[in-house]
Amino acid sequence: MSRPKVTIIGAGMTGSTTAHWLAARELADIVLVDIVEGMPQGKGLDLQEAMPIIGSDVRIIGTNDYEDTAGSDIVIITAGSPRKPGMSRDDLLHINAKIVKSVAEQAIKYSPDAIFLVLTNPLDVMTYLTWKVTGLPHQRVIGQAGILDSARMRTFVALELGVSVENVHCYVLGGHGDSMVPLTRHSNVAGVPLDKILPPDRLAAIVERTRKGGGEIVSLLKTGSAFYAPSAALAQMVEAILKDKHLIVPASAYVDGEYGLSGIYFGVPVQLGRQGVEKILEYDLNDEEMAALKKSGEHVAANIKKLEPYL
Ligand code: NAI
Ligand code: 2OP
Repeated sequence: MSRPKVTIIGAGMTGSTTAHWLAARELADIVLVDIVEGMPQGKGLDLQEAMPIIGSDVRIIGTNDYEDTAGSDIVIITAGSPRKPGMSRDDLLHINAKIVKSVAEQAIKYSPDAIFLVLTNPLDVMTYLTWKVTGLPHQRVIGQAGILDSARMRTFVALELGVSVENVHCYVLGGHGDSMVPLTRHSNVAGVPLDKILPPDRLAAIVERTRKGGGEIVSLLKTGSAFYAPSAALAQMVEAILKDKHLIVPASAYVDGEYGLSGIYFGVPVQLGRQGVEKILEYDLNDEEMAALKKSGEHVAANIKKLEPYL
C-alpha cells in the first residue's frame, strides 16, 4: 500500500515544522515547496536523514517545482509573510493574497483531488481565497486557527490549575484575530465548566491572554510568529483527515447559515474526516455569545470584500 502524500507550500518556520511533526508520526510522504531555491531541498534532505534515527520510513523531498506535488492527498499552504511586532494579521492581507492565489493556482493543477489546508494569515480570508481559486467544494478547503487558539487557552488553564492538558477542553470560535470568541461556558476541566473552577478575574485574564496569544509570541520573537503550536495543529488536522477519524475540532470552514452567518470562512466546530469537513456542529449559544460571533463574522466579511482585485 502506498503512503499518503502531503505537500506543504512554504518551507519556512511553520511549513518545515509541520513536515517535522508529520514525519515523526510517520503519517505521509512529504513534499516541501518554496520559492527560495535550495532551501526546501536542504530542509527536506536534512529531515530525511533524521528518519533512521527516529525510525520513520516516510520519504521527504524539497522542491521548487509543482510537478513534484502531483497527486497529493493533502496540500497545506503556509506560503506568505508572517507579521512583525505591531502588525495585525489583517495587515498581511494584500501581501499574502498575491502569494496564496499564485500557489493555490499552481497546486490545484497537479492535485485536483486534494484537500487543501490553509495557514497563511489573515487566515479566514486566505482560506476563502484558496476555495475560490481552486474551485473545490468548500468541504475540501479548510483553515487552521481554532485548534491553535483553543490549545493556547487549554495551556493557560492547565498551568493555572496544575492539571494535565489532556483534562482541559476549550473551544475558541470566530475569526482568527482580535475578535475571536473563547467560549468559557462550553470549556471545561474533566467535565466541570471553567466558570465553576476559576474565579471570574482569573478566567477573564485567561480569555484575554488567549485572544492576544499570537501577538505575545510575536513580541517575544521580534522576527516571525509562532510555529510549533500552529504546525502541531496542522498535523492534527492531517491525521484526522488521513485516518478518517471524524474528529471534532474548531477550524475555519465555509458557513452557510450556521450561527446565523453565510458566505464566509469562519471558525466553527467541524467534524473532520477523509472527505474534509463532514459537518459543522452548532452549539447552544446565549445572546452574548451569538453577538460576539456576529461581530467577529462582520469583521471577517469586511476583509473578504477586500479580496475583489484577486478574484
Ligand atoms: P516564514 O516566513 O517562516 O515562511 C513562509 C515561507 O513562504 C518562506 O519560506 C517564503 O520563502 C515562502 N514563500 C513566500 N512566497 C512564496 C511563494 N510564492 N511560493 C512558495 N513559497 C513562498 O513564515 P511562517 O512563520 O511559516 O508563517 C507563514 C504564514 O502562516 C504567515 O502568513 C503567518 O502569519 C501564518 N501563520 C498562521 C497561523 C494560524 O494559526 N493560522 C499560525 C502561524 C503562522
Ligand atoms: C498566531 O496566532 C501568527 O496567527 C498566528 O500565532
